Formats: sequence, structure tokens, C-alpha cells
Amino acid sequence: MNDGRVVRRQRLAICLMVMVLPTIVSIGSGSPQEPASPTTLVAPKLPIDTLPATTTLMRNQPPLGLTTLPRDNAANPLTAAKVDLGRRLFFDPILSQDESVSCASCHQPSHGLASPDALAIGIGGKQGRRNAPSLFNRGYGKLHFWDGRAATLEEQSLQPISNPDEMGNDLARILQRLQDHAEYPRVFAEAFGDPETGAPAINDERLAAALAAFQRCLVIGDSPVDRFRAADVKELSMEARQGLWIFESRGRCWQCHAGDNFSDEQFHNTGVSFGSATRDSGRAEITHDPQDRYRFKTPSLRGVAETAPYMHDGSAKTLEDVVEFYNRGGAANDPELSPLIRPLNLSAEERRYLVQFLRALSPTKEQTPVP
Ligand code: HEC
Ligand code: HEC
Repeated sequence: MNDGRVVRRQRLAICLMVMVLPTIVSIGSGSPQEPASPTTLVAPKLPIDTLPATTTLMRNQPPLGLTTLPRDNAANPLTAAKVDLGRRLFFDPILSQDESVSCASCHQPSHGLASPDALAIGIGGKQGRRNAPSLFNRGYGKLHFWDGRAATLEEQSLQPISNPDEMGNDLARILQRLQDHAEYPRVFAEAFGDPETGAPAINDERLAAALAAFQRCLVIGDSPVDRFRAADVKELSMEARQGLWIFESRGRCWQCHAGDNFSDEQFHNTGVSFGSATRDSGRAEITHDPQDRYRFKTPSLRGVAETAPYMHDGSAKTLEDVVEFYNRGGAANDPELSPLIRPLNLSAEERRYLVQFLRALSPTKEQTPVP
């Protein structure tokens, strides 16, 4: 592919539909128009790994709708052993201070790898200040977090561990804990191909590399929208087709949710949280540029039906709420609003079409892998 040097490198990807399907089933049992009740959505604090036993599938091709696979980090080539290690760590609460929270607590397999809580809840029930986004297709991202403060998934991966509101651990302590564990030293040594020197197999760089390698495999595509675009016209309902048309024309959505992954990877102020006394300044916290005030990263829309609530502050409970928000032009009085956000004057019917389109961005059921 894009790295001809490593002839034997094989691309790996996780079978995703096994993760996505339970959500489709649970959502399908209620009316899609009704906001899901929070009590039915609260997942176990420590979600179990519902990935198939064959953890990684060879993937030499991107799924339909994406033209490439995520770019490998040359310093962290994907191997099955490393991806498996990252996956194990992702589900293991050992990374949190009191061993009560794993990455999957907030990035839940049954919730599109996002969280049903508006604001993330970490160790000891501490509430963070932002919504936990989906981790699908992060391998395509240029910058990570809502404010783009991490440039690579490797850099990103260690931050939740030391964040006092998330996993609350100090890195030296967690490395020691892993080093003292009955199995991790051996698993790390194997994953990183160590010769038998007896040197410690675990360090921060390797912990980050394994978590990042796993996350780079979390790829989704092949939605009804992709099938429709690939000329399989009947795959997309008439309503969703109307929605696609609105998305690409009067809705103006494509201006930011652009490209294969429905994100321009830029930062915009859409007016979310306008008027709140504690408004999060977003990208400006990192760049210190007043122009970046209240700007947040454009999220991908793939699999968005599974990940409610929405926006960096979790303020939109449903996709209907999101579409209403854009229809009224975000926050019309916000002096720093992006000029791309304006009232859309969509009829109730057109708003419904747009929601149907957004729902059609999840993988089709036919992708279910053979267990
Ligand atoms: C307590 C909840 C919580 C836990 C635990 C947690 N995260 Fe997150 N995660 C979040 C929140 C909230 C954000 C958004 C934070 C922000 O943008 O400032 C986020 C953002 C991310 C992002 C960036 C996504 C994007 O769209 O840019 C990645 C990747 C990620 N987390 C991976 C992980 C990994 C790996 C772990 C375990 C080591 C983990 N998270 C543990 C809540 C959590
Ligand atoms: C000016 C760029 C821009 C335009 C135009 C735009 N969006 Fe967004 N979109 C964003 C940004 C940035 C966010 C995150 C905002 C935040 O949380 O503060 C977002 C968030 C979303 C979300 C929530 C996703 C999540 O995971 O939380 C959905 C759904 C969405 N947009 C759909 C649409 C639709 C539908 C349209 C057209 C009606 C549209 N967007 C137009 C930039 C844009």
C-alpha cells in the first residue's frame, strides 16, 4: 500500500459489526424518534470485550466508502501481537488508579465506542467537562481530542491515564503495576519482539504504542450511504436519499463534514454552549489564539446513530436535536459564530430526511463477520 518497504507487513482490522450490532438491536427495539432513556443506556462500568475471538482480521482493503486504510505510524508498525496487547489494555481497569475504570468504560463497544453520559464519568464518579467521542476511524484523524491537543494516537493514549477526572493514575505507578503483573511483562516482550535480555519490557512508549495500534484498527465504512454512492441505489431509503441531497446542498453540512470520513479535520465554532457561563473555549486553550475561541474539531459522522448524546458538551440528546440546532443557525447571537453556520429554513419533513441520512451512516448488517 503506502509503504512498499515492508513487504511482509500485513494490515489488520477489527471486525466491527460484532461491536455495532448489539447497539442496532437495542436501539431498534424502541421508537427511533424517542430519545433513549438514560436508565436503559447505562452500560456496565466495565464493559466486557465483545469483539470476536479472532481479534484482528487481515484487511488489505479499506471498507467501502473509504479510499485508504489509516496511515501507519512508521515508528509503530501494526502487528497482531501488538494489537492484541492494546486491545487487552483497553478493556483492563488496571490502568486506572483504583482499578475501577477502563478505556472502554467511556468508549463502550455497545455504544459506538462513545459514552451514553453527556459528560464523561471517570474514577470515583468524577464528572469530566466533555463528552467522550467515538473512537471509530480515529486512524484517519489529523489531531485528536475535541481541541486537537494530541497530534498522534500514541501521544493521545497516555493522557486519559493521568487525567485526574478520567483514570487518575500517575504513569510511573501504572508502569510499575504492569511490570509487577503476572502476565503483562511477558506479553509486552512478545508483542515488541524482545530478545531475552531480562531488560524491563514495559515502558510508557510501548504502552502508548500498543493502545494506538489497537485504535488504528477500529475502522468502519460500508454504510448504506456508501453502497448507494457505489451505485447500489436500492440500499438507501428514499428518505435518506433526500437527506443526502440536503446534506450536500441547502444543509451546507458537507462544508465541514467533508471527505470520506465526513470531517474536514478543522476546528469551528458552531455555537454549541453559547450563553453558558462556563463556556469551554475549545481550540483556543491550546493555540492561545483568540480566533480559535469556542472552536471544536469537526467530528466524523460515521456510526453517529450509535453515539448519542452529541457535541463536545453532550448538549444534543438526539440526532433530531442536532438537526434542529443547525436548522436554527446554531446560536444566532454568537458574535464569534462560524460564517458557515446560518439558519437553514428546512421544513419538518426535510429535517426528518436529514436525520434518516445520518442514521444511514452506520455499517450495514451484512458486514457481520463469521464468528
Ligand atoms: C472517564 C472517561 C474516559 C476514559 C476512561 C477514557 N476516555 Fe478517551 N475520551 C474521553 C473524553 C471525555 C474525551 C474527549 C476529551 C477532550 O476532547 O478533551 C476522550 C477522547 C479520546 C480520544 C480522542 C478522540 C477524538 O475524537 O479525537 C481518544 C483516541 C481516546 N479518548 C482514547 C482513550 C483511551 C485509549 C483510553 C484508555 C487509556 C481512554 N480514552 C479512556 C473520556 C474517556
Ligand atoms: C462550520 C462547520 C460545520 C457545519 C457547516 C456543520 N457541522 Fe456538524 N459539527 C461541526 C463541529 C465543529 C461539531 C462539533 C461542535 C461542538 O461540539 O462544539 C459538529 C457536530 C456535529 C454532530 C455531532 C457529532 C457528535 O459525535 O457529537 C452532528 C451529528 C453534526 N455535526 C451533523 C451536521 C449536519 C447534519 C450538518 C448540516 C445541517 C452539519 N453538521 C453542519 C462542524 C460543522
